[in-house]
Amino acid sequence: MSMQGKTLVISGATRGIGKAILYRFAQNGVNVAFTYNKNEEEAAKIATDIEKTHGVKAKYYRLDILEPEQYIELFKQIDNDFERVDCFVSNAIIYGRSVVGGFAPFMRLKPKGLNNIYTATVLAFVVGAQEAAKRMKLIGGGAIVSLSSTGNLVYMPNYAGHGNSKNAVETMVKYAAVDLGEFGIRVNAVSGGPIDTDALKAFPDYAQIKAKVEEQSPLKRMGTATDLAGAVYFLCDPEQSAWLTGQTIVVDGGTTFK
Ligand SMILES: NC(=O)c1ccc[n+]([C@@H]2O[C@H](COP(=O)([O-])OP(=O)(O)OC[C@H]3O[C@@H](n4cnc5c(N)ncnc54)[C@H](OP(=O)(O)O)[C@@H]3O)[C@@H](O)[C@H]2O)c1
Repeated sequence: MSMQGKTLVISGATRGIGKAILYRFAQNGVNVAFTYNKNEEEAAKIATDIEKTHGVKAKYYRLDILEPEQYIELFKQIDNDFERVDCFVSNAIIYGRSVVGGFAPFMRLKPKGLNNIYTATVLAFVVGAQEAAKRMKLIGGGAIVSLSSTGNLVYMPNYAGHGNSKNAVETMVKYAAVDLGEFGIRVNAVSGGPIDTDALKAFPDYAQIKAKVEEQSPLKRMGTATDLAGAVYFLCDPEQSAWLTGQTIVVDGGTTFK
């Protein structure tokens, strides 16, 4: 019940992990402000469904994480629609043309693609978390979570750009946690092993990754978006994780150690 009536702000909730997180919070009585990039129609459908099914407020906004300063205007719009901001989840990830030269074997990496991934992963987290923290300070605290990935712990083909940026965002999370602790704001990361989403299906070796995970995981299955949603919710709920900050929780079905 500690989450009822609170507000979540989350980036990239039209699909995959972000969508699962959105529903997890809404099911628990949390109002939700979420972003889309291209799929406005899907965002509208999700907002209508959440309001009807879970009786909470749901609003959607356009955001491009390649332009992190868009978060400043976005949070002003959220101020008009919601009374408070309690949780912020930096989840959205870029794909397609913007990751060319970033999602590639080492010898084909290019500064532009790598920079795009860094901007979308680390700089978007920084600006989004800063704007969220300004609002959280006004209500005496809150929780911030960044999504990360075990591609910074184990080798994944073509994943150097993402893996390095996930390392960087995990370090940024620790610095934010130290600097924001005095305001009652906790900052953590959830690092997922391979999860069956559109982002993973875009990998050229998707079928091999899936087969390997199913073989490697002691739980003998692929991860699902809801597997990560529970960990994110746990980190945002002060009844469950009030003294947990500056950490990365690895949710990988046991694959990293094996
Ligand atoms: N899938 C995995 O195996 C895995 C594992 C560990 C961690 N993660 C992490 O979990 C997070 C979510 O991944 P996912 O697999 O759920 O991704 P996904 O299914 O591909 O969804 C990506 C989301 O990001 C949005 N987006 C795309 N480009 C954007 C842009 N330029 N600006 C703003 N938003 C944009 C999309 O919105 P539109 O639909 O409107 O375009 C969508 O809502 C990422 O941080 C990822 O690194 C994923």
